[in-house]
Amino acid sequence: MTALDGIRVLDFTHVQSGPSCTQMLAWLGADVIKLEHPETGDATRRQLMDVPDVDSLYFTMLNHNKRSMALDARNPVGKDVLTRLIGTCDVLVENFAPGALDRMGFSWERIHAMNPQIILASVKGFGPGANQDCKVYENVAQCIGGAASTTGFPDGVPLITSAQIGDAGTGLHLALGIVAALFQRIRTGRGQRVLAPMQDGVVNLCRVKLRDQQRLQSGPLEEYSQHGRGIPFGDATPRAGNDSGGGQPGRILKCKGWETDPNAYIYFVTQAAVWESICELIGKPEWQDDPEYTSLPARLPKLDEIFAAIEDWTQTKTKFEVLEICNPRGIPVGPILSMKEIADDEDLRRNRTIVSVPHPERGDYLSVGCPIKFSDFEVAVERSPLLGEHTTEILQDLLGYSGDALDRVMASGAVGKS
Ligand code: COA
Repeated sequence: MTALDGIRVLDFTHVQSGPSCTQMLAWLGADVIKLEHPETGDATRRQLMDVPDVDSLYFTMLNHNKRSMALDARNPVGKDVLTRLIGTCDVLVENFAPGALDRMGFSWERIHAMNPQIILASVKGFGPGANQDCKVYENVAQCIGGAASTTGFPDGVPLITSAQIGDAGTGLHLALGIVAALFQRIRTGRGQRVLAPMQDGVVNLCRVKLRDQQRLQSGPLEEYSQHGRGIPFGDATPRAGNDSGGGQPGRILKCKGWETDPNAYIYFVTQAAVWESICELIGKPEWQDDPEYTSLPARLPKLDEIFAAIEDWTQTKTKFEVLEICNPRGIPVGPILSMKEIADDEDLRRNRTIVSVPHPERGDYLSVGCPIKFSDFEVAVERSPLLGEHTTEILQDLLGYSGDALDRVMASGAVGKS
């Protein structure tokens, strides 16, 4: 038995934010039925295609463990099928542009009247307010949530991070909201509406930068490298390059081979608790007793000098040698792993976070499995469905269509099957 056994999710999502949420629910054991337009399907099926006429990796990597039903929700027969589906499901998840679900004729009020126990969960770009009608994609979310203004180097342009904090980050927030609403329903018997705006999700993930915004009122942010360089602070949290966001200064430093390997670097944290060990390791034992270096406040204005000395040492070792030497000494370091190294990582494969999945049209493909591990059940990662692969079985087994009624629906143009 899995965590969400018996929970049925109507997955009216597309692109990344919504599908990442419903994929997580599917991994937790819910029966997830993905609804897609019979002609176009989820647009990502055909985006960034690497094999002609085969579902793209963009799609296959975000839609594991789901069933697919092709359904036109604007066709009258399709509306009837959707109404019956709403009656049998616990959760409806959608991430259409604002107003699209209402335009299809399925407002929250109507959905709630059809099934008072159902949870309607939505991703939108913004929450209620001046921008509530705007469409939003990942990079836009990073900009409107404060991430871009605080990512990059102080003398460079704002940067986007490649971690999909706007899409997959919001998907995770929504999944948590859905599970919480399911839990509340056990006590109230009622469904409710759950909204996860992308802007709000990014703000939640950027809280340390809002912390620094307030700290600025009390003076310069001393742990930022720009402080040691004598560069004055403005009135907003600046970009901090690779400075650590906490109280333990850290930087990305060159390792052996950096001249030719773009990933021959390591993140090195000068944690105060192991300062003496670091001094010993890099050949600066004199810093252990020098009051100019012994305390963290004394070190903060000298971060450039300190990290230059550490880098003199890290450049004599590969990133994995630095890891091997620092770990037993309790010095926190992180080699910059490339996606190639991630793909081949033995532990990630053994723990099924990196998985190889068979697919009838593309053959085996590499994907990311469930990153959460449970002691009472194991998540089995299954391939993404073909467009409309499960239309007939859902109509028959779930909704009870058979004989002439089934033929009529199939002939109506409202549904499709692969
Ligand atoms: N049957 C009938 N109509 C369908 C359908 C189906 N199965 N699936 C989609 N449609 C229709 C929608 O009803 C909508 O029609 P309408 O606008 O004419 O009323 C239309 O297809 C397009 O949907 P929309 O969501 O507007 O797609 P888009 O490609 O124009 O915009 C986004 C894409 C992502 C920008 C937008 O959906 C959005 O802002 N979503 C919320 C935020 C979000 O999740 N962003 C991140 C995505 S990773």
